[in-house]
Amino acid sequence: MLKGRHLIEPGNLSLEELERLFVLAGRIETEACLQDACRGKVLATLFFEPSTRTRLSFEAAMLRMGGACLGFAEPGSSSVAKGESLVDTVRTVSCYADVIVMRNPKEGAALLASRYSSVPVINAGDGGHHHPTQTLTDLLTIKRLRGTIGNITVGFCGDLKFGRTVHSLAKTLSRYPSIRMVFISPPELRLPSYITSGMLVKAGIDYLETDQLDKVMGELDVLYMTRVQRERFFNEEDYVRLKDSYILDRKKMKLARESLIVLHPLPRVNEIAPEVDTDPRAAYFKQVKYGMYVRMALLSSILGVESC
Ligand code: NCD
Repeated sequence: MLKGRHLIEPGNLSLEELERLFVLAGRIETEACLQDACRGKVLATLFFEPSTRTRLSFEAAMLRMGGACLGFAEPGSSSVAKGESLVDTVRTVSCYADVIVMRNPKEGAALLASRYSSVPVINAGDGGHHHPTQTLTDLLTIKRLRGTIGNITVGFCGDLKFGRTVHSLAKTLSRYPSIRMVFISPPELRLPSYITSGMLVKAGIDYLETDQLDKVMGELDVLYMTRVQRERFFNEEDYVRLKDSYILDRKKMKLARESLIVLHPLPRVNEIAPEVDTDPRAAYFKQVKYGMYVRMALLSSILGVESC
């Protein structure tokens, strides 16, 4: 379905393609198919920024389909430390691998890589810009837990300025029917205006911006919590001042609907108290599992081996 294609931002996939990936992920989960589909294929993971879930779920996805993985989790151990350019690194690695998954602190890095790679490039996060495979994970989780993606109010809480998972998810949700969005952040960490006025207004999305989580808790079907992105701040003082702006705890959960689902791309730092983990509405660890299935679906589709 997606054979040979790059995935740089969620807009690269149509709603129909998203749906087909979710159906395939469901088959992989329930029928355990594609176990050998990637035998002989090689995935390269080039991570210029820290990662646990994204890198390991891609590697787990490839290994579970019989493929192999190589790459680096830390650029200091590669020729990047000698001053090699991103373009040369990608040109080189595309001689060894069938698909490249890359995370880089610079916005636009994945797009640049895709222009020089001879194999498909999947963006695993480019600075504060996009993180399309986290969006696949988030949407599949909503779909599995609610049955459908449309007709919901989604609250995004935390660092909406630098959080690339928020940017990708809000942009993609704006293509689904009857979505209302509530953006909860301190004024300094509001969603960039290129997304609010540039995309949401144009798409006719009903949205609200507020700094009060308590006041909107009862309106939400999905609450997407995020960490304050320390590494993207210009000074530590601002980070320290803003880092604990919102802490979701049992008391706040009492204000929410019984049907709420709480998502978080993880890692969490302090923004969800561990006491919330046992609440049936906490879905962030289920989300981790869906992330692996949807990455299996994506890899098999991009490699053209997805029939199952
Ligand atoms: C996110 C990221 O890297 O943007 N993590 C992830 O991939 N699940 C979120 C974050 O780091 O806060």
